[in-house]
Amino acid sequence: MVKLGVNIDHVATVRQARQGHEPDPVWAAVEAELGGADLITVHLREDRRHIQDRDVAVLRQTTGVPLNLEMAAIHEIMEIALQTVPAMVTLVPEKRTEITTEGGVDVCSQQVPLAEMVKKLHGAGIRVSAFIDADVQQVRAAKAAGFDLCELHTGPYALATGNGPIHIQHERLRAAGEEILNLGMQFNAGHGLNYHNVGAIAALPQVNELHIGHAIVSRALFIGLRAAVREMKLAIARSAG
Ligand code: PXP
Repeated sequence: MVKLGVNIDHVATVRQARQGHEPDPVWAAVEAELGGADLITVHLREDRRHIQDRDVAVLRQTTGVPLNLEMAAIHEIMEIALQTVPAMVTLVPEKRTEITTEGGVDVCSQQVPLAEMVKKLHGAGIRVSAFIDADVQQVRAAKAAGFDLCELHTGPYALATGNGPIHIQHERLRAAGEEILNLGMQFNAGHGLNYHNVGAIAALPQVNELHIGHAIVSRALFIGLRAAVREMKLAIARSAG
């Protein structure tokens, strides 16, 4: 069964709109778990635009499913990861001006420093995932750098329109996923997935986890987070190959 990692950053986005206490992402994590989330994901950005240090610390103590911390490969956040020890860290690129994560980490050009970070995180017992574009060269570089998992960036697939372009993006994901599996890593995918486009990704051979945030939190406004997560789990279950 393909697992669902629920990204709750945008619950914190609403809270930060007033810089108050509600809605609390810690409550959101409980609701997501009750809806069937297999992992909880938060991205602690350098600019702290949504998730705060306190959220990561409390979630680490309270989630009943593994916590996946998304972070840029920078010293400050690395120290927090090493102190908090989430089950898993996903290294992502980060730009202050971006609305959301735009592309995958370029592991090919930073293999040595990334390998150092992976080693430190492994030393703390943390599994490490690389969020990369669907490119076999990036997959091979991730393997060489010691990553345990690769999360393929599904954004280009999600944004593609028309059967031809969608097929091209899907094929890239399939081929890169095959390489991840051939190299003995875990195959994850995420970004821009929603209730309509998740099926074809859930059906990719041996994809392990899908990481989804915005679509679930958006749906939750109307039907509640627990039900929104349950619906996504159903959409995945219907299509999983
Ligand atoms: N995976 C990664 C690495 C991400 O950075 C994000 C966005 O924070 C997601 C998955 C979830 O993307 P979306 O919110 O579009 O579902």
